[in-house]
Amino acid sequence: MAKLSFLSCCRALLQSNILYSPTQSWVTRKFILVSKSVKVGNRQFGIFGSFTTEISRKEQTTQLGKTPHNQNSLEAVRQSWLDFLQTVTTGPQGVGYLLGASVRVSYFTVMSLLGLKIVDNMNQLRKSKKRGISLELWRLIVGMLGECLTACRQDYSNIRYGYYKLPPLPTRRWNDILPATLDYLLDVRMVQARRRENRYREIPPLINSDFPEYYKRNFHFQTDGYLSEYSAKLYEFQVEVLFNGVADVMRRQALVPLFNYVHSHSIKHMKLLHVACGTGGILSDLAENYPQLRIVNLDLSPYYLREARRRHETYSNTYIRFVSGRAEELVFRDNSFDVLLNIYLFHELPPNVREQVAKEFFRVLKPGGMLIFVDSIQEGDRSDLNRLLQMFPQIYHEPYYPSYVKTDLKTLFESAGFRSANIYISWLTKVCVFYKP
Ligand SMILES: C[S@@+](CC[C@H](N)C(=O)[O-])C[C@H]1O[C@@H](n2cnc3c(N)ncnc32)[C@H](O)[C@@H]1O
Repeated sequence: MAKLSFLSCCRALLQSNILYSPTQSWVTRKFILVSKSVKVGNRQFGIFGSFTTEISRKEQTTQLGKTPHNQNSLEAVRQSWLDFLQTVTTGPQGVGYLLGASVRVSYFTVMSLLGLKIVDNMNQLRKSKKRGISLELWRLIVGMLGECLTACRQDYSNIRYGYYKLPPLPTRRWNDILPATLDYLLDVRMVQARRRENRYREIPPLINSDFPEYYKRNFHFQTDGYLSEYSAKLYEFQVEVLFNGVADVMRRQALVPLFNYVHSHSIKHMKLLHVACGTGGILSDLAENYPQLRIVNLDLSPYYLREARRRHETYSNTYIRFVSGRAEELVFRDNSFDVLLNIYLFHELPPNVREQVAKEFFRVLKPGGMLIFVDSIQEGDRSDLNRLLQMFPQIYHEPYYPSYVKTDLKTLFESAGFRSANIYISWLTKVCVFYKP
């Protein structure tokens, strides 16, 4: 009862203009626009709530015409809150989700600000003597929080529609959180020093020198690149800080096409190959939702694979395997998997390697098999975020990202033999579905 009254009050406050009106006209002049259209190849998509659906040329004009050019980011955040509250307060699990998501997003947003603060104290971030958070940074934070809410709303809608289960809240690995927080805060200075001096070749002496050249670097300026136990322990936490606590939420969009596939085929004997699994990422969600699914995880980093295995020891009843290897030379037979899942790999590959990997994906999938490709949104997907896409590779050492955001994924995968199907967007992530005919 008390919870419901509290939520009703929040809703009423947000619906009223009490907090909002005085700042509105000032903010309107200052803040960025929000756009809601997505282009893939020569096809245009509109974002409707949880899904991105293809729209006709006529609708496209209407949709683009509807783009809220008079909206500012404060308005967008308020709207996101309203939508979020409306969505979560209608479902029985909603209050739990609301609390979990709030804790998670707040925690990782604070971590990201603390990271900046530490760096700032060391006088490394900016040259100016002015203290406090700049207007630009506030703008970024407010805009990001709005985006996080929208992503969480999509996530919760998917849970309500039954696409996947409500994950344990707010994080599965509470016992890992404290050490990871300390490690992150200690490490952040080293990352910033590397960033300032553009040092990206600081990886440990390699036992196995077989790693490709493009891989032997400090992606994201992170300590040891992908090549140490230390890096593997920190990775998930750093990704959550980068995405304000919604990295898992965005990854979970991949479970929507998987649900559709599993429910139109027999799951008995179904095999899924998870390429570039990192330290697991979506693996817990896969194992919890599909205990019968046979999952093979592959990554080039033995350290990340080991960490993934450690984190998923609890799923001992499920068929989960870990294999070390390269995506461009997959160590599997032709036509051996029903589903191939690939998350956040292509933006870290040189263009020629992307083509090889697409062909390998095609080779190992069975006819009728599905590829769920998940990576960053690209240029033109969200015109309001184009600037962010330009800045990201400089701040996070992502040398192949600029070419990735310009790549026509439809052409890339169709050239390998695939037929393209749906697209789903969640803030900075897009999920593209392809089939092997
Ligand atoms: C950005 S991380 C993404 C990890 C994970 N999919 C996630 O959702 O967080 C990129 C991962 O791709 C792996 N990787 C990079 N190049 C690879 C390649 N050629 N073959 C296999 N894995 C690769 C890295 O080791 C790293 O774990």
